[in-house]
Amino acid sequence: MARQSREFTCQSCGAVSAKWAGRCDSCGGWNTIVEEVGSTSGIAAGPLKSRVSKGRVIDLQPLSGKDDEPERFFSGIDEFDRVAGGGLVPGSAIMVGGDPGIGKSTLMLQVVAKLAKAGHVTTYISGEEAIAQVRLRAERLGLADATTGLAAETNLSDIIATLEAQPGLAAVVIDSIQTIWSSDLEAAPGTVSQVRSGAQALIRFAKAKGVVLFLIGHVTKEGQIAGPRVLEHMVDTVLYFEGERGHIFRILRAVKNRFGPTDEIGVFEMTGAGLSEVSNPSELFLSDRDETSPGSAVYAGIEGTRPLLVEIQALAVASPLGTPRRAVIGWDSSRLAMILAVLEAHCQLSFAGIDVYLNVAGGLKLNEPAADLAVAAALISSLTATPLPPRNVYFGEISLAGAVRSIPRAETRLKEAAKLGFKAATLPMANAETIGKPPKSITLNGVSGLAHLASKLVSSSKQQQNQHEKN
Ligand code: TYD
Ligand code: MG
Repeated sequence: MARQSREFTCQSCGAVSAKWAGRCDSCGGWNTIVEEVGSTSGIAAGPLKSRVSKGRVIDLQPLSGKDDEPERFFSGIDEFDRVAGGGLVPGSAIMVGGDPGIGKSTLMLQVVAKLAKAGHVTTYISGEEAIAQVRLRAERLGLADATTGLAAETNLSDIIATLEAQPGLAAVVIDSIQTIWSSDLEAAPGTVSQVRSGAQALIRFAKAKGVVLFLIGHVTKEGQIAGPRVLEHMVDTVLYFEGERGHIFRILRAVKNRFGPTDEIGVFEMTGAGLSEVSNPSELFLSDRDETSPGSAVYAGIEGTRPLLVEIQALAVASPLGTPRRAVIGWDSSRLAMILAVLEAHCQLSFAGIDVYLNVAGGLKLNEPAADLAVAAALISSLTATPLPPRNVYFGEISLAGAVRSIPRAETRLKEAAKLGFKAATLPMANAETIGKPPKSITLNGVSGLAHLASKLVSSSKQQQNQHEKN
């Protein structure tokens, strides 16, 4: 009799080990390892020796050759189509991940309902909500008249049988992959082996039938639920839906895409009637900005193919603590530590005994190093309690030596700034000198070192203070 396989799987990263441990060696998570009996996690387990048979020789193909570009189709929600790589490719598997409650179900219901209205056959399988709940939401979104087929089901074989019975199916949403379970496995629903085998079967179905498969997956910061991260390598596209729960903005970000560029973002606004597209995000991100308050700088960034202006807010305030606090939202905290160190080392500014808070407005998360200069400007402005010059944007990368390094696509950033009525830009000298056609309405202030910018801002702060005293 075959011995039942026993293995221990980390519910956070999917690593498989032969024995239980309190801490996962692979991802470092605590209490994430769970025993999964009779798992068929093919990828991790590998083929059994006894099953290896003599293979057939595969015909190798040359790299060159004509293949038709896959025909894409569109949901009509532009922000979504662009992030998905410029339309949906039949047979592709797309994972939509995000925190619970961020709006994944809402977005995907809107996408399939729109597709249905454009004449495609679509299905929405909800494993989390009852039919009545989904109907209620569709009504709220004004999509109740769409012909999308709806089911509340979690059994994998029933779902696949249902999908196979639908002729001409174009797209299906599985909400969420963590609720899907197969009776062939003994592991509990939501465990890594269930999630993995469910996704494998659904992806196989999607590829065979040319159906676009959307897998919704919850991500939790604590990694309590089987991390959809184990799915990232199985699907063609990974989209993350993010945003701060208290904010109305939601950002859809492509982190992997076999059929298009990554780093692309789509911006949505959560309204009473679902998610609406924000086609000019810069305008909205800057809408309630107060130019006259210290510590606020406008960063001209690039997200994917689009320029995007965002406000960076810094607050430097005397600390009552022995070790001052550094808190960051929307940016990398080690990068903030680096900028602070450069300001101390090269610009004669001291943040000792001062709490520093940094916030990227609107709940956006910035990854570009080009934001360094805007962060530095906001920090100096808050430290000196002097607002930055009005109608000015900042971008540039800062090196540890305090040099301001050139960054790509300066012209696109300047054009966006000009479009929104900005009059000046503080940018790397190398960019200012080499730029082809800067917009006429923008004055370029090239800087080669951070010390130069810092001394300029500090002396203008002193001038303003003197004037204040005279009055
Ligand atoms: P939901 O799509 O259920 O999130 P997820 O599937 O990611 O868990 O969205 C949940 C939130 O969205 C909920 O807190 C209410 C809000 N919401 C609106 O503000 N307006 C709407 O029209 C809808 C449908 C939801
Ligand atoms: Mg949901």
